[in-house]
Amino acid sequence: MAIELTATGRSIPSRRVTNDELAKRLDTTDEWIRSHTGIGSRHLIDDKTACSDLALGAAWDALGQAVEQGLVQEPSAEALAETLDVIVLGTSSPDYFGAPASACIVQHKLGAPHCCAMDISAGCSGFLYGLETASGLLAVAEGRKRALVIGADVLSLFIDWQDRSTCVLFGDGAAAALLEKTGAPGKGPEKRGIIRTILGADGSGEEHLLMRRGGSRNPYHAGERIDLPPHYEMKGQAVYTFAVKTMIELIEQLLAEEGISLDAVKRIVPHQANARIIQAAGKRLNIPEEKFFMNINEYANTSAASIPIALDEMNRNGLLRRGDVIMLIAFGAGLTYGGSLLVW
Ligand code: UT7
Repeated sequence: MAIELTATGRSIPSRRVTNDELAKRLDTTDEWIRSHTGIGSRHLIDDKTACSDLALGAAWDALGQAVEQGLVQEPSAEALAETLDVIVLGTSSPDYFGAPASACIVQHKLGAPHCCAMDISAGCSGFLYGLETASGLLAVAEGRKRALVIGADVLSLFIDWQDRSTCVLFGDGAAAALLEKTGAPGKGPEKRGIIRTILGADGSGEEHLLMRRGGSRNPYHAGERIDLPPHYEMKGQAVYTFAVKTMIELIEQLLAEEGISLDAVKRIVPHQANARIIQAAGKRLNIPEEKFFMNINEYANTSAASIPIALDEMNRNGLLRRGDVIMLIAFGAGLTYGGSLLVW
């Protein structure tokens, strides 16, 4: 048995905001943002769009791609949606904090009647946590065969647009991957699909990236005046240090545990938080920059959506060939981290 990623899809807001546009209303410059982060623009939602809307768009796109490319027997995306057994949505900006899960809204709108659906709160590692959760759910029950894993975030709604050290970093977006339990080997030289995953957390970094208000630690009280909407606060340098260290350790650990060299890995797809993080980790490990797939210049940090957007972009551009070994590396609020090796 193997758990294979078959189709991918995405939903990116059409409104593209360049660094120069931000600099018109914020004390920043295109030069600062590019040189400190590698970001050139971001895509932002309009005020009618919520997390589940983007997630739904990405889901339909992935299902449509699966049908169009003849990867499934179902004749339409709608028919394919009916066969889903699991929907997992990684997000830190759900439609509703608490309940219901945005994944349930997606499940209903897709018309997936026999399906469990849940959100995963693992910051920017949400897609990798989602992949492992969905894989486990498929593996444990014989009757479960198909899952949709989505990463969707609309952090533009939850950042302080006056805080220049945070707001320039984030963009909105969603992307999805269809996971199938197949008869291909999960072990041995011919193994396919997700072959190894490491997940971890370090809650001592709770304060490094958090939304302080609104939860049970700091609930709102009746009559209280709220100056700023709920928003994420970040200790940028602490996250930066964690991210570089974590990337290095994950890459080394995945290669060592799998018993392969870096040459066996076609591309590394890291969370797109800051090009400098990726470059610093690459330099430490002597990995050429071309080995890393990067699209942060266009989309900025889309949180849980960044890895699946990158995967979808590679897929669309013919950069993923059957049999390629791909490494995914994530880190984020929590603090959380994760790495996966998969055979495309
Ligand atoms: O998904 C995970 C999410 N988060 C991350 O991955 C973030 C990780 N951290 C980072 O990427 C970097 O720490 C940042 C990009 C956030 C900041 O870069 P930095 O090189 O660590 O800058 P800094 O915080 O040390 O600030 C240097 C200077 C400060 O000015 P002073 O105090 O030296 O005068 C900041 O006020 O840069 C200033 N600054 C800016 N200047 C222009 C901070 N943000 C901006 C800005 N434009 N947007």
